[in-house]
Amino acid sequence: MAATKAVRAFLPELIEKYGIETVADIGCGDRHWVSKLDWSVEYDGYDVDPFDDKAIKFDAINEVLPKAYDLVMAVYVMNHFKNDKLCARMVDNIKASGAKYLFATDITVRATGKLELEMLGEPLESKFHKSTPVSKLDCFYRFWALQ
Ligand SMILES: C[S@@+](CC[C@H](N)C(=O)[O-])C[C@H]1O[C@@H](n2cnc3c(N)ncnc32)[C@H](O)[C@@H]1O
Repeated sequence: MAATKAVRAFLPELIEKYGIETVADIGCGDRHWVSKLDWSVEYDGYDVDPFDDKAIKFDAINEVLPKAYDLVMAVYVMNHFKNDKLCARMVDNIKASGAKYLFATDITVRATGKLELEMLGEPLESKFHKSTPVSKLDCFYRFWALQ
């Protein structure tokens, strides 16, 4: 939980600032830290391997979300993918859903296995989104406007 302290403060601020009402959490896992968030949104958790029956079975590489959420989250998901092509497919699928914002961890953690800023390679924004994120928290959380 200590590792997510900063993000638990950062995310609700962005939710308020951008008027976000609906959230899809892709690769939600057990939703442990998300369940501690101080926010009031309509939240759906998706996962390719659902932890329990509250999560919706969904493969972000091969499927598009069933509706346009205000925000899609993908925290510590793309860094597990085998290559950048799979990350790009997931980002394309998220954009195809009509989502307004994306909150994700930078995939380059995968390249080095380390989280230190100086070890980061090419960031997600230059590879896939070609725009600067609206907001950044330390070296690996990013918040983009998709539209
Ligand atoms: C390291 S966990 C992160 C869980 C949670 N987001 C968190 O921050 O604690 C990565 C999650 O991504 C899910 N995942 C991996 N590939 C996925 C895919 N293609 N589509 C959806 N979920 C996926 C895994 O099943 C796992 O629950």
